[in-house]
Amino acid sequence: MEIVMNRLRLIQLLVVALTCCLSNASYGMGHEISIIPLPRQVELHEGVFVVNQQTQIEVLGVADLERAAFLEETIRSELYGLARVQLRLSEGQSALGSIRLEQDESLADAGAEGYELVVTPELISIRAASDIGLFWGVQTLRQIVSVSESGESTIACCRIEDAPQSAWRGYMIDVSRRFIPLGELKAQIDILAKYKINVLQLHLTDDQGWRLQIDAYPRLTTVGAWREGRAGEFVGGFYTKQQMRELVAYAAERFVTIVPEIDVPGHSQAALAAYPEYSCTGGPFSVRTTLTDPGDVVFCAGNEATYTFLERVLDEVLEVFPSEYIHLGVDEVVVRRWETCERCQRKLRTEGLAHTENLQGYFAQRMANYLAAEGRKMICWDDLLEDQAPEGATIMFWRTWTGTQRLRSAAERGHDIILAPVSHYYFSGSPHVQYVYDYSKEKLEFDAASNERIIGYQGALWTEHISSREATEAFTYPRLFAFAEGAWTPKVQRSWTDFERRLWHHYTLADSDNLNYVMPNPGGYSDRTLFQDDAEVVVIAPDQATVYYTLDGGNPSPSSEIYREPISLNADAVFKAQIFMPNGRVGPVRTGIFEQAQRLEPIELEQPIGGVRYAYKEGEMFPEIVLAEMPTARVGIIDRFRIPDGVRNDHFAVRYEAYLRIQETATYTFHTISDDGSSLYLGEQLIVDNWGFRPSVSRSGSVFLQAGYYPIRVEYTEATGDSLLSVSYAKEGLDAVEIRAQDLFFTFAERETIQTTMGQHDVHSIEGLLDDLEESFYWSNRAPSRGDFIQVNFDAPIDITSIEIQTGSADGRDRLRSGVLEVSSSGVDFTELGHLTNGSVSLKTNQNDVTSVRVRVLESQRDWLQIHNFKINENNYTNTK
Ligand code: ACM
Ligand code: ZN
Repeated sequence: MEIVMNRLRLIQLLVVALTCCLSNASYGMGHEISIIPLPRQVELHEGVFVVNQQTQIEVLGVADLERAAFLEETIRSELYGLARVQLRLSEGQSALGSIRLEQDESLADAGAEGYELVVTPELISIRAASDIGLFWGVQTLRQIVSVSESGESTIACCRIEDAPQSAWRGYMIDVSRRFIPLGELKAQIDILAKYKINVLQLHLTDDQGWRLQIDAYPRLTTVGAWREGRAGEFVGGFYTKQQMRELVAYAAERFVTIVPEIDVPGHSQAALAAYPEYSCTGGPFSVRTTLTDPGDVVFCAGNEATYTFLERVLDEVLEVFPSEYIHLGVDEVVVRRWETCERCQRKLRTEGLAHTENLQGYFAQRMANYLAAEGRKMICWDDLLEDQAPEGATIMFWRTWTGTQRLRSAAERGHDIILAPVSHYYFSGSPHVQYVYDYSKEKLEFDAASNERIIGYQGALWTEHISSREATEAFTYPRLFAFAEGAWTPKVQRSWTDFERRLWHHYTLADSDNLNYVMPNPGGYSDRTLFQDDAEVVVIAPDQATVYYTLDGGNPSPSSEIYREPISLNADAVFKAQIFMPNGRVGPVRTGIFEQAQRLEPIELEQPIGGVRYAYKEGEMFPEIVLAEMPTARVGIIDRFRIPDGVRNDHFAVRYEAYLRIQETATYTFHTISDDGSSLYLGEQLIVDNWGFRPSVSRSGSVFLQAGYYPIRVEYTEATGDSLLSVSYAKEGLDAVEIRAQDLFFTFAERETIQTTMGQHDVHSIEGLLDDLEESFYWSNRAPSRGDFIQVNFDAPIDITSIEIQTGSADGRDRLRSGVLEVSSSGVDFTELGHLTNGSVSLKTNQNDVTSVRVRVLESQRDWLQIHNFKINENNYTNTK
């Protein structure tokens, strides 16, 4: 008995210890610590530090007095803003009841940006080897100030050790498409600093506007900064060099580096509207008003005067921006005009370049050389990979759809890499916050050496379709918070569920910063819930919120019922709830469909093999998608529900089928995030309805499942580009995890592979013979020659009872004129079973332990080959075609 008690206590202690390692641990009186980005280590202790008028601030060991003063001032203004307490500076001796910042070289182990924050009832101590670390520590402190209703400000006793996982934590803002006033940029820098984001990349130039004053070329801003608006008015603006210097200094004070992007040689119509002589044709051009697609007005890469022009521009850029890195774009260069330009073609010949496209690499190398001579480093977008980016250039990866192989080889060639994936980090594409959160370098599956090359992460806000500060903020928050944690905190330490909970506190902080964030949905229930007898609706919302709900499908309003406790249902219902915050903010309506349904029963599965079968389809998506009618381009086996490699950009669909293994009987919530739509079924029961043409949206569905196997099917469509699909599930009360191969299976009856020595015509792949679809058949891309074959291989030997093979189309074309059917148990030695006559063979047999069946061509022929039927029957099993 005694031992059991001790054990129990030990478990309790372990639970406490584990909780402390998470960020959101609670301590007395329901207080919470909710830090974003999640620090490396957080321990909560008993007690609080009370902040009041007597609290003093002291800064020790910071040699730069201006820095020291700035750190003090940051604490004073933050605590005043949050808690309305006016703090005093320490007068001499360190006092009890003080906030002490101390720069101490002995903490160098924590890294250049690391810090330690310790709160006791008497003292708040922030220590770091550098002033940067101290500043990040102050930002963390700001996030853990708790103000009670009576106005008392306290800080939970704790010990925090922290350091970032990566050095580059950047955010890019497109100030070309939307000219953003200086004050708004400063406010943006404030928020970046609060979330420990240390780079602001300004996309200063594009087709639609040039935003930086350049003394040597005044027309860049008198002409290039203005484009015609809808009503014929001029839209735009620019920053003087003095304003930019001011912004650079403002950012530097907050440990944010401004990296300018001068996007050349493409995306340059605004510059060339001002100075058309540096284009291939000489113009004239006007600043581009079309907001989609890069224009084909690009700098002439064959004209030496172009390089002189850009070097003079860079001279002034370098004067204003002390950043080690300068971004020169080199993305989406439309080379059409280079192809017909005499000077460009001459340059091609004199430089011994093979293709017009190679002028991009040449151009980039010239620019990189110039920057290197000035002691700076060049960054370019990953478009340059094909042309070999200049040695030493840092690659900013954005084109997620190109896969990772080329990026990996860039890493192997020694390029540093910054990850700015369009799929997850382009906020203007409205990625779901969870999707932003989910990204990490681990997705690239690089080896350790290549991983070393990844210096960090960068979010981006392109502003083609954003024209106000309100909209800019609505796209940015809370995505930026999710991004900040992804950049700072290692993947293994992060949890979406925990982050989502911490986020509530940050809406309160965002209110104090007057940010126009997008209010979250009420949590606690799924978009769709299947139940048997009765269901309980639970709503999760912040304490200070009022939640109004309806059960009749109508939208909630302040005259609806107020949610106070879980609601019981015993029939179908459409539950709608909405969060109303005390400050007047109202969140979106969240609809939950509650549906009484038969309990799903697991099935038996023999000899399951890990993986998912998929059919990849290509075809027209508009006006509506009929998956069954789309031709299958290929089928295959994949490890999980993800977009297969080598798909096209849009107008395709994927149908995935597998058996999902449920290990424990419980209620499960499935989540899909997809762009465009998806549906998830268990058996024929729709579980997650995420169908439609739209940007990434997250949808969920809950269902009770007993342990066992369930047929699972996901249908996914992509009509408009930016493909993404994520399928995860969560057991009651736990974090959602991606469903992976270890719980996804296909069966013995589906385990064959097929190969041929011939290629495929159009979409008619050889794998089409293995799926269960009539419309998919094999069609060779040439006439068969003697020795060509089509071969089916089995993972495990099977006993064959009959084989039926039919070649040629329905009207008898493209038959195999002379062929032989053979089987093998070794994959090496084959035994003849019979010949094809009139292009077909159908025979009964009794062959045991067969691992391969093949049709071999005996005589070359003129016709190509079609196969519509390749059926192998065995004991208890028929393959699908
Ligand atoms: C880009 O989005 N064109 C870098
Ligand atoms: Zn040219």
